[in-house]
Amino acid sequence: MTQEAGATAKSPPMLKFSHIGLVATDVDMMARFYVDVLGFAITDQGDFGDLKVVFMSRDPEDHHQIVLTNGRPVHLPRNTINPKFGPVIQQISFKMPSLADLRDMKNRLEASGATEITAATHGNAWSVYAHDPEGNYIEFFVDTDWYADQPFYVPLDLNKSDEEIIRETEDMCRSSPGFKSIRQWRVDIAKVMPPPFPE
Ligand SMILES: [Fe+2]
Repeated sequence: MTQEAGATAKSPPMLKFSHIGLVATDVDMMARFYVDVLGFAITDQGDFGDLKVVFMSRDPEDHHQIVLTNGRPVHLPRNTINPKFGPVIQQISFKMPSLADLRDMKNRLEASGATEITAATHGNAWSVYAHDPEGNYIEFFVDTDWYADQPFYVPLDLNKSDEEIIRETEDMCRSSPGFKSIRQWRVDIAKVMPPPFPE
C-alpha cells in the first residue's frame, strides 16, 4: 500500500494488546513461578495432543494474559547484544500502581531465588527487572508523571524514600532532552496513533 492510499484508507479497527504466549521447557515449574511469585491464577489448563497448555491471568476481564506451552528448544542461542534479554522476546512487562508495590515485588523476586534482579528509572517509569526461571526478561514498572526522550536508563536505588526517588526523577527528567509532562506526551502521541483508542 502506498503512503497516499494508506492516508485515505479507513482507520484500522480498535486494537488493545491482550496477552502473550511463552514456550517453556518445564511448563509446570514456570507456572509455579508465575502463580507463587507474580500472583497469577491458572484459569484453564490441559493437553492438546502433545501440547501442554496453561492459561494464566491476573484480571477477571481477561481469560488469559500469559499462555505457557511446552516445546522450547533445549539450546536456544543467546541474544547477541545483551545476554540478559531474550533471543526473541526482549521483555515481558507488568504495570504496578506504586513504588511500594515495586519494592514489594523486588522482595518477592529476591525471596524466590530469581536472578538478574536490577532496578532503573526510565524517567517516564521506575522499573525492576529479573529473569523468570527459564531466563525470560521480566519487568515490573510504575509510571511517573513525566516524559523524557527514550531510551533513558539510570540505575535506581529503591532503598531511598518515595519522596527522594520522585524528586530525583523529576529533576533528571526536567534536565533531559524532550522533557514534558506525561499528560502532554499523551496528548501529543495520540495525534500519530489511529483512533479509536481502548477504553
Ligand atoms: Fe519496558
